[in-house]
Amino acid sequence: MSNFHVMDHPLIQHKLTMIRQKDCGTKVFREVVNEISMLMAYEVSRDLPLEDVEVETPLVKTTLKTLAGKKVAIVPILRAGLGMVDGILQLIPAAKVGHVGMYRDHDTLQPVEYFVKLPSDISERQLFVVDPMLATGGSAVAAIDSLIKRGAQPSSIKFCCLVAAPEGVKVLQEAHPDIHIYTASLDECLNQDGYILPGLGDAGDRLFGTK
Ligand code: URA
Repeated sequence: MSNFHVMDHPLIQHKLTMIRQKDCGTKVFREVVNEISMLMAYEVSRDLPLEDVEVETPLVKTTLKTLAGKKVAIVPILRAGLGMVDGILQLIPAAKVGHVGMYRDHDTLQPVEYFVKLPSDISERQLFVVDPMLATGGSAVAAIDSLIKRGAQPSSIKFCCLVAAPEGVKVLQEAHPDIHIYTASLDECLNQDGYILPGLGDAGDRLFGTK
């Protein structure tokens, strides 16, 4: 099975089209990013392990399924990744949230880590690294490198975005071939400024109303 997943569910596609439009304001943008993230969480969590549990319904005793011990942490890449956290937490409310902050150095154009705060047990958790835009792939690779350096298991990391550029997918797949990538859209390309086309603009600015 391929490690690259485009979520072509009609609800996700419809909502993504809403937020791509330039006249979609901050309030609706934020709400719809939240909704898409929740829908994506449903699919991204599909292989969480289950275990048997004995329960008593009003009629009989029986054995049913419940989520097993494997715990989840959501790791937004700051700042735009924050916009995806609440939607995922609506489906997985017990998840912990770690943060990785990256900025791009103006001279080297390389991502520089400026903040990392993670749950202490990341080596035992399923990690959902989230960032709405997978553009050059630089921040995603650096964030995942940072998690692995701190003990995360590569096989427990999944990367989730709303829009991916082919260039970023290639960079992330070459650096981390085993990590599954989930996106609502695979767009056409990057422009000369590193924006995804057709894209949705600067996800952080649109989420937080900055410019
Ligand atoms: N980051 C964004 O927010 N938008 C893009 O198009 C590319 C990177």
